[in-house]
Amino acid sequence: MSAGPSLRDSDLRHLWHPYTHIAAYEAAPHRLIERAEGVYLHTASGDKLLDGISSWWAVALGHGHPRLVEAIRTQAGVLQHSILGNMSHAPAIELAERLASIAPPGLTRCYFASDGASATEAALKIAIQYWYNLGVRGKNKFIAIEDGYHGDTLGVVGVGYVPYFHAPFEGAVRRAYTAASPHCACCQFDTDWEVHCAKKAFESMEALAREHRDDLAAVIVEPLCQGAAGMRIYPAEYLRRLRALCDELGLLLIADEIAVGFGRTGSLFACGLAGISPDLFCLGKALTGGYLPMSAVLAAETIYDAFRSDEAHDRTFYDGHTYCGNPITSALALATLDVFEEERVVERCAPSMATIRAGFGELAKHPAVHYAKCLGMIGMCAIAEEAGGAAFARRAANAAYDLGLFIRPLGEVLYLWPPLTTTAGELDAMLDRFHSAIAAAAP
Ligand SMILES: Cc1ncc(COP(=O)(O)O)c(C=O)c1O
Repeated sequence: MSAGPSLRDSDLRHLWHPYTHIAAYEAAPHRLIERAEGVYLHTASGDKLLDGISSWWAVALGHGHPRLVEAIRTQAGVLQHSILGNMSHAPAIELAERLASIAPPGLTRCYFASDGASATEAALKIAIQYWYNLGVRGKNKFIAIEDGYHGDTLGVVGVGYVPYFHAPFEGAVRRAYTAASPHCACCQFDTDWEVHCAKKAFESMEALAREHRDDLAAVIVEPLCQGAAGMRIYPAEYLRRLRALCDELGLLLIADEIAVGFGRTGSLFACGLAGISPDLFCLGKALTGGYLPMSAVLAAETIYDAFRSDEAHDRTFYDGHTYCGNPITSALALATLDVFEEERVVERCAPSMATIRAGFGELAKHPAVHYAKCLGMIGMCAIAEEAGGAAFARRAANAAYDLGLFIRPLGEVLYLWPPLTTTAGELDAMLDRFHSAIAAAAP
């Protein structure tokens, strides 16, 4: 599967790829995607690949969705950009209202940012400035969960510090207090809080929160699934206890649903599944169906109120991005929400969720698989260290590519994160190829 020589040469001469080892990329066959439709990526060499990761977890409704394409085209011809500072426009107003109407209860205010990292960064800043505006000094630190991921800007790296990625920045970031990850490798498909190690992890969170309550602006979590850490799925009870703890100690809770928002967990929002409302709620990725970058932070009214200035105090939030609440992306997000609602996208995932659960239940029996877990439209399995861990997972992902399935390992973890609109036949084909790839990777 190699592309024409000139594009490959230009690529190797000029393009700097994210999260990519340069030498490995230069040595590997060139993977050039030319177009995409539905659940398929079409390569320049004429192959069709099933997109098993929704193109970096964003393309929830599949590629080339006519309504989303049309929304972009139409809005681009009417108003393509207008500043939101001291000005407004209908698409952003309608989207803010719509998001407030579907978000967990109490999140009435919508602050737009550009991408995931700029939303989580804004949420951290809002939390710090909230306390400052109330006249409370020194509450400017965070608790984050071990191996959490909230984006790649310097501010959010502080709440998602992974030594392997971030060691060069150690002196430049302000590290959060880190609570143990509520992740249990041993209890496959186990949701019993009492025997789950999430309970132990919560004890670490609680101890940190009690010890540092006077310094803390907020706690930040990826609800129900720590995606980049390797699809670490954890029980809703953890979130419920965390909400109660934050209430008791007067801490803000930031829920980062950039990855899992919009149906991925089987519910529109993971916080909804857990029955909690955070104080700040970050959305991105699938908000625009994965077509253009946009993100949002939803906030409780009490937080917004703390940013009203009076004659003696300027309490304004001085933060903003050129493309925040852009009319095209707002119109696109509105069309995305229309599709979710009218086509009952999340409700119709129920059979696919059962298929994923059955497929990964089977995979858990493979000798190379240490454990497998599922949550909604996510299926993951971790390759045992004895079987080769990350090296095995890389071989399996390459084998999957040759079998016509695009997946991307996270260390020793292989997972499926298909578009929510994947049909039963397409999902069966994905699972078949996933199984075959694991078989092919076995030494
Ligand atoms: C939970 C979470 N938060 C934030 C981000 C950052 O989003 P972006 O890549 O759009 O900056 C990601 C990206 O994967 C994510 O998974």
